[in-house]
Amino acid sequence: MGSPYMEFAKLRSGAKYNLATSGIMSYPLADLPVRIEALEINGPTVYGYAPLQERIAAYNGVSPDCVLKADGTSLANHLAMAATFDPGDEVLIEHPTYELLESAALYLGADLRRFERRFEDRFRIDPGEVERQITRRTKLIILTNLHNPSGAYADEATMQAVGEIAKAHGARMLVDEVYLETFYGRRPRPAFHLGDHFLVTSSLTKAFGLSGLRCGWVLCSPELADRMWRINDLYAATPAHPAELLSVIALDHLDKIAARAKRLLDQNRKSMDAFLGSRADLDFHRTSEGTIVFPRLRKGSVDDFLQMLREKYETSAVPGRFFDMPQHFRIGIGGDPEMTRIGFERLSLALDEYG
Ligand SMILES: Cc1ncc(COP(=O)(O)O)c(C=O)c1O
Repeated sequence: MGSPYMEFAKLRSGAKYNLATSGIMSYPLADLPVRIEALEINGPTVYGYAPLQERIAAYNGVSPDCVLKADGTSLANHLAMAATFDPGDEVLIEHPTYELLESAALYLGADLRRFERRFEDRFRIDPGEVERQITRRTKLIILTNLHNPSGAYADEATMQAVGEIAKAHGARMLVDEVYLETFYGRRPRPAFHLGDHFLVTSSLTKAFGLSGLRCGWVLCSPELADRMWRINDLYAATPAHPAELLSVIALDHLDKIAARAKRLLDQNRKSMDAFLGSRADLDFHRTSEGTIVFPRLRKGSVDDFLQMLREKYETSAVPGRFFDMPQHFRIGIGGDPEMTRIGFERLSLALDEYG
């Protein structure tokens, strides 16, 4: 068991002009107002560190007992799945999706079914399609919002409609909202507010450049949170306390961190729009939020093209085969603006050569 995508991301996606990452570039520790004396190695954390529980709860407009702090959205997703289905249970997941969600569900013994989000339909969630694919055996529906890989946004009415279908079948909803954080001050409320058959996962990783803090969470009913704290004992037991302290400081200064991320994204979106507007060899849906876009190459092999792009133009993007859509590739715009601008230039040159 493992994740082919994560192996690619860690070992084979690096390049001078890296358009393969999906998060905002690192926020420098030096820009956080922190003194070394304010940090401590060990702390009073038992099932959560109260000051951090309170901040995550306030940020999401929920009560602290509805917050399960986890090591990143990654562990949050794993815990949410482990607490909501047993091996052999049926789980309904969007397709395409973030590969780790499928791998984690399979690792936990899920009998996976899929519902389609179609390129022709702008990767929209179609509740009718969910209704066709759900069965009486379905225990959990899993999706991402914003959608990875396409960046498509599903509004609250859509979430509500799918949530009703889940409820009528006795299933729960797991919504990974890690990219919804990129709405910053205009972020819609987390889907957990639609009912406690919703579990929402997220973190400070993607939208704020704070991956190293591993500050992730699940929003869920207090009963489920209790169950997950006990499961978390098997995986992670006690968190790194310095990271908890730094996460508290980050959440206290999130407006400033968000403003830097937003400036960067606004700049990079201009480079992306100029690039997309100039290409007749790609089919694509523009996104107005988020950090990613998922164009389709009209002719040729994406794998061959991306290999040439990396070897000759020192530029990387993510092959669509990791999302089961081999004619597509995913471009990320969370990097340094100058690096991103040159990356798009090189992408254009490579496409011209490949065409
Ligand atoms: C949809 C989705 N969820 C979770 C993660 C991982 O998030 P974290 O770094 O918070 O564990 C990613 C990373 O690419 C992702 O795309």
